[in-house]
Amino acid sequence: MTTGHHEPPGSPGPQSSPGRPPATPRPGPLATPLTSLVGVRHPLVQTGMGWVAGPRLVTATARAGALGILASATMTLPRLREAVREVKSRTDAPFGVNLRADAQDAADRVTLLIEEGVRVASFALAPSRELIGRLKDAGVLVIPSVGAVRHAEKVAGWGADAVLVQGSEGGGHTGQVATSVLLPQVVDAVDIPVIGAGGFHDGRGLAAALCYGAAGAAMGTRFLLTRESRVPDAVKARYLAARVTDVTVTTKVDGLPHRMLRSDMVAALESSGRIASLLRAVRHAAAFRKQTGMTWAAMLRDGRALRHGKDLTLGQMLLAANTPMLLKAAMVDGRTDTGVMAAGQVAGLIDDLPTVAELVENCVEQAAALLTGPAARVTAPGTPGPRDPAPRSPATGVPATGVPATGNPPAPDPSAPGASALDPSALDSPAPGPSAMDPSAPSPADRTGPAPHGSP
Ligand SMILES: Cc1cc2nc3c(=O)[nH]c(=O)nc-3n(C[C@H](O)[C@H](O)[C@H](O)COP(=O)(O)O)c2cc1C
Repeated sequence: MTTGHHEPPGSPGPQSSPGRPPATPRPGPLATPLTSLVGVRHPLVQTGMGWVAGPRLVTATARAGALGILASATMTLPRLREAVREVKSRTDAPFGVNLRADAQDAADRVTLLIEEGVRVASFALAPSRELIGRLKDAGVLVIPSVGAVRHAEKVAGWGADAVLVQGSEGGGHTGQVATSVLLPQVVDAVDIPVIGAGGFHDGRGLAAALCYGAAGAAMGTRFLLTRESRVPDAVKARYLAARVTDVTVTTKVDGLPHRMLRSDMVAALESSGRIASLLRAVRHAAAFRKQTGMTWAAMLRDGRALRHGKDLTLGQMLLAANTPMLLKAAMVDGRTDTGVMAAGQVAGLIDDLPTVAELVENCVEQAAALLTGPAARVTAPGTPGPRDPAPRSPATGVPATGVPATGNPPAPDPSAPGASALDPSALDSPAPGPSAMDPSAPSPADRTGPAPHGSP
């Protein structure tokens, strides 16, 4: 059975035949251990988001020089293969696939990644030592996502190539420790490249992550809100209209803390009693079974794995299917009344829908300017007083350097931990101009300005 989030081919045509080794990318201005490990231009990651991170978004990200990750938990195996081949047919650039390490068919998915030559395996939960070993032996990089320092230490000890650390600000399942605390804690604890996630949406976030000592920053909600994301316009409009206080955490979807937009559906979940919750869970479990071809036994096994050692009942285990089905209702079917909209707090700061190429270029340019360029706002002792503010664009009020008119960017201290995560030679490189963009990026004529707050 082939089910899942089907996407018509994107605008760019095939670039290569599948299986061809990726071309070495032109170096970007922010070379880090992550860019050299994966072979991407920029230390920026588009995370695997169920129903959202499909072939079109991942292709656009890969072509923009960042690391795009396909979400696969909501796909059948045949659909996953199709999706992987679709990306490979449109770009030579490396990309990744996000897996549920606890899924009953995780081993088959790993085999698929190996057969298809996927560059990166990303895991929603810590993978077993055995899965890591199989992938590494086959040359696939393993980058698990973690929400706690002890999990980072564990996967690093088992041979993970890098680790993605999500702080509590982040969308979807989330922990309790903020990125600003968790990220430096993990950077200090492990000696593999660390990618910071949770709460980042622009070049200031990317620069901040590098200053914390990370080798890159990952963004979920920000990439959901791009032109190439296939989330229905009405749903994107809900995200764009959200304020920071409109983003909440509930455990009522599947028993685990889950960050999402407040909605009538979330209020209903919060107030529904045990019987209603159970009936909803059974309904969603039946639908998810149909969607993925899973057996009831496998679903229960997955639900049990989701318990993470918690004392959950059978009913709560069935809730595991709530997440994919409620997400699908909103992200694919556009039903904001019956679905949930996983979102990071950063949804409250985002009010535009750039193309992926614009997003990546702006983030990198802004981060490079903050870390190395004339936008640096700290004056070394003994030098003349503070610099004049950079000239502002009359249209946007944003300095010509790309640094926002307001905000408090981190100081560019070359001795800061982040500086050591950067390739020093790259610091001399100028920030990329338009020529540094992927030639496949849409021309300016294809772009429109930022959407007004609340409109798609
Ligand atoms: C709609 C949505 C779906 C998500 N689905 C997944 C998923 O399937 N697997 C996963 O590992 N993380 C998932 N996440 C978490 C993201 O991959 C990422 O870690 C998080 O969004 C980072 O925080 P940010 O939104 O503040 O950038 C999801 C997040 C969102 C917003």
